[in-house]
Amino acid sequence: MINFSDIEFRLLKGSDISKYKSELASIRIEIFRDFPYLYEGDLEYEEKYVKVYERSKESLVVLAVHEGRVVGATTALPLRDETDYLKKPLVENNFSIDNIFYFGESILKNQYRGLGVGKKFFEFRERHAMSFKKYSTTCFCAVTRPENHPSKPSTYAPLDNFWINMGYKKDPRLIASFPWKDIGDAIETEKPMTYWLKEWKNEF
Ligand SMILES: CC(C)(COP(=O)(O)OP(=O)(O)OC[C@H]1O[C@@H](n2cnc3c(N)ncnc32)[C@H](O)[C@@H]1OP(=O)(O)O)[C@@H](O)C(=O)NCCC(=O)NCCS
Repeated sequence: MINFSDIEFRLLKGSDISKYKSELASIRIEIFRDFPYLYEGDLEYEEKYVKVYERSKESLVVLAVHEGRVVGATTALPLRDETDYLKKPLVENNFSIDNIFYFGESILKNQYRGLGVGKKFFEFRERHAMSFKKYSTTCFCAVTRPENHPSKPSTYAPLDNFWINMGYKKDPRLIASFPWKDIGDAIETEKPMTYWLKEWKNEF
């Protein structure tokens, strides 16, 4: 049986991120194949994705490692360092981009779920964001798929309650559009990604 204490967390910034880019790409591709992402891995896309983190001066990547193998990862960076399509819904709704810290993915291999790693990933990213003492909002977005999507497994449970318990609130006004190729598709299509936000009142 695997325990939380068996997991080692590695916090990466700047050039350290580059050293792990192939591990990051392969775990993203593995986990995001599943519903609701259904992402057909694309190494060119992964290369562009990691560059955004490498370039940012305030980004963070946390790896969860077990017996020397990367079994999970999470990412965060200031929203201003992200791509325009991610900023767009917030700009259009008059949010101040410079006050927002954006959380990328949280991904974990199946057999490591339910141990508290997902919660720990939030703690690392929130602590990192608040350490700069200039961000008043943390946020992330999650794909919205139709309720009756043909690839939805009968056992699928949405993560909404987890996110609500972590203090995040979904804002249905804020929808970004991300392009990627679904498994089995010939071309990329745009996916609606709805934002979840948490306001930090006195912490920064
Ligand atoms: C998101 C993810 C990393 C969470 O990891 P995790 O380590 O299993 O989460 P934790 O063990 O910290 O669980 C935190 C809480 O959420 C609950 N939870 C976790 N997964 C859940 C699920 N699928 N459905 C409902 N509740 C869930 C846990 O019961 C726990 O609640 P508790 O505090 O009341 O006990 C993992 O589910 C994952 O990799 N999912 C696939 C990728 C994904 O969709 N990522 C999110 C968008 S990028």
